Amino acid sequence: MGISFRRVGASLAAEVEGVDLARPLDDAARDAIHDGLAEHQLLIFRGQEITSDQLMEFGERFGELSVHPFAPHVEDAPALIRFENDADTPPFGTDVWHSDETFRAAPPMATALCAKVVPEVGGDTVFASMSAAYEGLSARLRGLIDGLQAVHDMKPFKQIFEDTPEDREQLRRFEAIYPPITHPVVRVHPVTGRRVLFVNPQFTIRIKDMDERESASLLDTLFHQALIPELQYRLHWRPHTLALWDNRSVQHYAVHDYWPQTRIMDRVTVKGARPVGVAAADPATVQKPKKLIAGAVSHGAHKPHLVEDDIREPAAAE
Ligand code: SIN
Repeated sequence: MGISFRRVGASLAAEVEGVDLARPLDDAARDAIHDGLAEHQLLIFRGQEITSDQLMEFGERFGELSVHPFAPHVEDAPALIRFENDADTPPFGTDVWHSDETFRAAPPMATALCAKVVPEVGGDTVFASMSAAYEGLSARLRGLIDGLQAVHDMKPFKQIFEDTPEDREQLRRFEAIYPPITHPVVRVHPVTGRRVLFVNPQFTIRIKDMDERESASLLDTLFHQALIPELQYRLHWRPHTLALWDNRSVQHYAVHDYWPQTRIMDRVTVKGARPVGVAAADPATVQKPKKLIAGAVSHGAHKPHLVEDDIREPAAAE
């Protein structure tokens, strides 16, 4: 039996059936997953009882793994992040909407996260399609942001450095390696040609060439797109669920409601390329935006009609 994708979310997400990730992926399966990822943006594999090595091998089938400069990783496997949270170690920094590591010049193209221990209640991850987020904006606003650039920064990780001479020196070194970096506000997905809203409240600090107030209010409007339920999919983890998301077109938010229960997840990320904006992309590959949010284009069956009982003389002002 081959791989199949069962769509489970309106704007993104499909469950993948017919693959056992404990076995090496052959080229046909790898290609099917690669294409399915671009199309569905979030792939969910249930019941995959795999080791950390097998997770890394799975990730490597899609490209070289990247090493996160700040996240907790396994000692002898720097590319393997382990989020091991319990009463003594609260989760940190993932309850903010973000795409992974956009403080890098070339953020990862994909992330694979595998659930090892899940809490009894809570601990879901919410995903948002940022291509649908872009398409949900008015044509006027899309026209404005298509040509803009935004600055991304490693700011949330600065707080992990102590106020000591050693840490201050270390922080300066990291700031030199990861200086604020500019990405297009709208990137073009290299596989689908869809335009993607590529700013996030975790790492994006300002819009280039705008004054601070303009930049802050525009970013606030753009950040709000990820909050629209129609554009989201909420993943409820079970032990041995593996999620693979397209970091070029998706943002996510880890819900920290489970703490102080235990939640243990393994994560790898696959290196990506520098995001390409609308102007720099080959025009032949750039898709025209679709209109996705029904309410924005029609009023359904709603129309005004007078209700006899409700028609009263306006109350006299006291
Ligand atoms: C992350 O932001 O990569 C973590 C997501 C999660 O823990 O659900």
